[in-house]
Amino acid sequence: MTRDEPLVLGIETSCDETGVGIVRGHTLLADAVASSVEEHARFGGVVPEVASRAHLEAMVPTIQRACDTAGVTLAGVDAIAVTHGPGLAGALLVGVASAKALALSLGKPIYGVNHLAAHVAVDQLEHGPLPEPCLALLVSGGHSSLLKVTDITGYDDGVAPMGATIDDAAGEAFDKVARLLGLPFPGGPHIDRVAREGDQIAIDFPRGLSSRRDLERHRFDFSFSGLKTAVARWVEARERSGEPVPVADVAASFQEAVCDVLVRKALDAAGAEGIEDLMIGGGVAANSRLRALAEERAGKLGIRVRVPRPGLCTDNGAMVAALGATMVERGRAPSRLDLPADSSLPVTEVLAG
Ligand code: KG4
Ligand code: ZN
Repeated sequence: MTRDEPLVLGIETSCDETGVGIVRGHTLLADAVASSVEEHARFGGVVPEVASRAHLEAMVPTIQRACDTAGVTLAGVDAIAVTHGPGLAGALLVGVASAKALALSLGKPIYGVNHLAAHVAVDQLEHGPLPEPCLALLVSGGHSSLLKVTDITGYDDGVAPMGATIDDAAGEAFDKVARLLGLPFPGGPHIDRVAREGDQIAIDFPRGLSSRRDLERHRFDFSFSGLKTAVARWVEARERSGEPVPVADVAASFQEAVCDVLVRKALDAAGAEGIEDLMIGGGVAANSRLRALAEERAGKLGIRVRVPRPGLCTDNGAMVAALGATMVERGRAPSRLDLPADSSLPVTEVLAG
């Protein structure tokens, strides 16, 4: 780390985490996160209005905490980065308005960045500069995509989608299946934990979009809604029969079906493009089975796998700061101070004009 590298503060508010991260270049100095997840748990999903209010209350204390941890003052920051989409509109607005207030009062540039690209860029904080090209498997509560990344700042079509989910996102499937197994929200970490006690081949759940016919049209796309329905049917049949539901086996078999398809398609895409580096990002990348299966299968093909540590996979401000710092380093023009929040921002638009 040298003093010449940009000191960037990143703000993330696209869902229920108020994240404020501070980086100098590729070095992580602070990653403060305040989550409103407990306020949503009893509703079984994130309530947008509740999330927005929680961001408003948490924002200033979280900024202060990040500055204290990093040992910097706001005056020393070179640039402000903020998630301006995709995500919950009201939640994004709180982050974008806060970032504008900081940029305006400090007289520093603002970079409105894409949340999905930030999930990829964060790995630089742990494993150094991102190999470009790399194949990114992005799996979160709202998205499941395969991306060919030649420039993470998005320059010259640098983030190009190869495939995406045609229905539920991978994280959404984890959350829905957890709910029907009586596990708390968000379900991903609970399925991950419970599955360790279960048998992943106990139940042969379907692998979405994997038949020969499906592969012709949807080689790099995903589908998880059929799997979710298959799990629901299996559990219902068990309950009707009066036998106990083997929660650990269902969780393990479901998790295996998701991870099997994700890894298989990601490696197929990397092979098709002749890419030797697979990067996995987003909340579901925290899944222990996904990480192990990717390592195991990629190793056999000579493909390197990079996955950030679990705490950097789920939503946080450090990922936004990491992408912002890359924008500064590569001389990208900052965003305008009237940049909007865009709840349905496409993954290809990495930096707001
Ligand atoms: O990236 P993220 O924090 O928020 C979005 O941008 O959506 O992802 C949240 C999703 C949730 O669906 C959550 O259940 C899932 O990531 N998740 C996991 C694990 N940890 C979080 N899914 C599977 N295994 C995990 N260990
Ligand atoms: Zn996310």
